[in-house]
Amino acid sequence: MLIAGNWKMFKGPAEAREFCVALREADLPDDVDVVVCPPYVSLGVAVQVLAGTEIGVFAQNCHWADEGAFTGEVSAPMLRELGVYGTLVGHSERRQLFGETDERVAQRTRAALAAGLQVIACVGETESEREAGETASVLRRQISVLEADDNLVIAYEPVWAIGTGKTATPEIAREAHETIKELLDLPVLYGGSVKPENAAELLAHAAVDGALVGGASLELDPFAAICRASRS
Ligand code: PGA
Repeated sequence: MLIAGNWKMFKGPAEAREFCVALREADLPDDVDVVVCPPYVSLGVAVQVLAGTEIGVFAQNCHWADEGAFTGEVSAPMLRELGVYGTLVGHSERRQLFGETDERVAQRTRAALAAGLQVIACVGETESEREAGETASVLRRQISVLEADDNLVIAYEPVWAIGTGKTATPEIAREAHETIKELLDLPVLYGGSVKPENAAELLAHAAVDGALVGGASLELDPFAAICRASRS
């Protein structure tokens, strides 16, 4: 079971330090892998404060080249040098707001894996795609560019459930996770309005291998509660 907290563009270094100091002391279950994904500027402090713990620090994105004239970008080897353990790629906000394509997601994934990072690659359909009955074909398209790897995990995040308070039913999540697993035999996290109240139910099915948590990962108590609920 893996629970990853995606902080998005929240928590600069000072807040990140405070959170990580508290997280280090929190009551987290031993049998759950816990990961935080701070913004780039807060990765260094998170790595420092969480050193020597089992809690992993992931970036939220990484470029596909090792270095080069790519203003504003950060590469996988740079993240490795900082002590970062992995990265998200293809989050729906990247796809929707920053023009990320499936091919770019694949390039980023390959580069991050080659650099020795773990990768959580995000997929998921929009509301209109779901209403048009296109969920399975969208997932097939997004997954088709990826290859199985021991260090790759998929996060199924229906776009209509992200930050909206609308959660997929456990049945919707199970169905999507099974579709993904038929294409790539990898762990699949669920993401989209995961909260302490719905975590146990969402994570109960064998096809759900953990959660990618946005809003509820920004405060310690709900995040730790989700980690604990995922075990039961
Ligand atoms: P949310 O975000 O939990 O706030 O819906 C999930 C995500 O975007 O990873």
